[in-house]
Amino acid sequence: MTEMLDLDAEVAADHLAGLTARVAELAGDRVVRDVVDIGAGTGTGSFALLRRFPDATVTAIDTSAEMLSHLAGSARRHGFDGRVRTRQADLDAGWPETGAADLVWASASMHHMGDPDRVLADIRGVLRPGGLFAMIEMESMPRFLPDDIGIGRPGLENRLNAIADHARAEHLPHVGSDWPSRLTAAGFTILDAHDLVVDVPSPLPAAAVRYAAATFRRFRAGMTDRLPADDLTTLDTLLADDARLLRALPDLTVHSTRAVWIVTPT
Ligand SMILES: C[S@@+](CC[C@H](N)C(=O)[O-])C[C@H]1O[C@@H](n2cnc3c(N)ncnc32)[C@H](O)[C@@H]1O
Repeated sequence: MTEMLDLDAEVAADHLAGLTARVAELAGDRVVRDVVDIGAGTGTGSFALLRRFPDATVTAIDTSAEMLSHLAGSARRHGFDGRVRTRQADLDAGWPETGAADLVWASASMHHMGDPDRVLADIRGVLRPGGLFAMIEMESMPRFLPDDIGIGRPGLENRLNAIADHARAEHLPHVGSDWPSRLTAAGFTILDAHDLVVDVPSPLPAAAVRYAAATFRRFRAGMTDRLPADDLTTLDTLLADDARLLRALPDLTVHSTRAVWIVTPT
């Protein structure tokens, strides 16, 4: 998972920079100092925000000690040591002590919460008047393959995604929730709502190819008992020998859509 998150960060870096620029535009004259990144993972959002807001320090919250230690190592390598503090906490158990915030960021994390409305109320509670909450949710899993790759039955990626969507819906009931209604009910005014579309055409840069391979390896590991036998064989063929055949596909692309809301306390 850490590898996939880091590769996603690399592939979507320009889009993310565009998004933080939009946040800065909405912040206007406000100096953004205290930032909280919830479900920070490997720090994709934290680092993009530290680059955008030179006076900021980030409190990166995650349940996972592994994610946070990876994030702390990357912070040192990126020269952000001293501007990031990590806080291991389960937001479902309550909001940890963070102090007041100018900006809260939640990328691909709100749907993990058991009670997102309570977490939204906590975010509303820590934001200073006029502060911003930026929330990003994946609308669909990233896509890489054309329908017919010339190996196995056409439609492999559709079938893989259908299984993944089903599993997500089972384990994460808030995926695809009506977030605008929830945000409004929690006392936020929506300043901006848009889709962030990441489209990388072929030939893909090396990081995007590694992202595709990491995604299909994850599918392969998690779906052994749910995939038809012929699709398992196709996946194994694609991934054999360090994903040699997958990497050689001439029309590998990346396409993913994320929904973005930037809101402020009403
Ligand atoms: C899909 S990752 C997103 C990571 C990062 N924000 C990004 O955009 O790359 C979701 C993260 O939320 C964290 N998470 C899930 N449930 C959580 C909870 N209840 N409290 C805090 N963090 C949580 C997970 O450990 C994981 O690192």
